[in-house]
Amino acid sequence: FETIQVSELAKMMGVKVSELIKKALQMGMPVTANQSIDADIAAILADEFGYQIERAPIEEEILLQYIPPSPEELKPRPPVITVMGHVDHGKTTLLDAIRKTDVASKEAGGITQHIGAYTVKLEDGRTLTFIDTPGHEAFTSMRARGAQVTDIVILVVAADDGVMEQTKEAIEHAKAAKVPIVVAINKIDKPEANPERVKSQLAELGLIPEEWGGDTLMANISARNKIGINELLELVLLQAEMLELKAAYDRPARGRIIESKLDKGRGPVATVLVQEGTLKEGDIFVAGLTYGRVRAMFDSYGKRVKEVTPSMPVEVLGFEELPQAGDDFIVLDSEEKAKKIAEYRQRKAREAETAKEAKISLEKLFEKL
Ligand code: GTP
Ligand code: MG
Repeated sequence: FETIQVSELAKMMGVKVSELIKKALQMGMPVTANQSIDADIAAILADEFGYQIERAPIEEEILLQYIPPSPEELKPRPPVITVMGHVDHGKTTLLDAIRKTDVASKEAGGITQHIGAYTVKLEDGRTLTFIDTPGHEAFTSMRARGAQVTDIVILVVAADDGVMEQTKEAIEHAKAAKVPIVVAINKIDKPEANPERVKSQLAELGLIPEEWGGDTLMANISARNKIGINELLELVLLQAEMLELKAAYDRPARGRIIESKLDKGRGPVATVLVQEGTLKEGDIFVAGLTYGRVRAMFDSYGKRVKEVTPSMPVEVLGFEELPQAGDDFIVLDSEEKAKKIAEYRQRKAREAETAKEAKISLEKLFEKL
């Protein structure tokens, strides 16, 4: 517990409330019977009566053992990219085109996308990770849960249609998340295409192209005809370089759940984006309200892998229960700890739920009055 009522504490120790209050007063702490005091004070009071309060280690305390990596531990990591834009402006077509530039997928003979996030390896060995989240609802809900997973947004704007409602929304979301935008002006193969008009529309919204003295990187592309795709990827990599993305590799992994599903044969399965450290088979973890042990991992090509480094998405088997997209994923050194944290979080979630219900029924009561 973090707080306890004075009367409750007295009951637990089998002493009279008045005695406890008196003792507290003597110690310079005036309290009342139904006052909530925090665990530290409760421990001091209990000590006076010869009791020791054994506090179950709470989640925060354990997590606080997290030591941020020192600069020496940091090494470059690939960028994580999300594609956003208005309906039908060509997001999916662009992702398909990008995937075809991937040497790894060519080697694998055809493209089998197993998970909603994948890594593209270019000929020169540089890699990029794309998160295939459908639209900005996912983006927003992730962010609302404190999950910053993307480093760069590719904003797709069709050159014939121009800036539309969802283009503006995507810009708002990226700005709110402080994620840099690289613009892909798409469908330039169309006779009606007017990239210059798109640029001036974007400039009005604060996205000023470099050629106009601004700092927003933009590429004219045709996702369908595969024109300008490599140029776009170059810009994305350039933007990534400017961000100097780094992570520690040599430590227990931490990441985020990108998606999850209950698989008939395999049980709960989730895609984890590793953001720090190296995830290994056999690792014990807590993720949101659940925990588990990595039984097996598969990369975005469905290939079994034993180790996963930062910015890499991976399908993980071994969850006790299904985690939620946006949940954290933290490797710990013992199953006992992982279980404890998961249980603590479940309790918290239940309490929050009860509190919410109580509030709702109170509000209902007031409505009736
Ligand atoms: P939603 O997922 O519904 O938001 O759409 P989207 O942004 O993923 O668009 P999608 O890739 O499905 O493309 C929409 C339509 O535009 C399809 O008919 C594509 O073939 C077409 N399209 C995409 N890119 C191009 C392009 O470069 N040129 C032309 N001419 N058509 C394109
Ligand atoms: Mg689509």
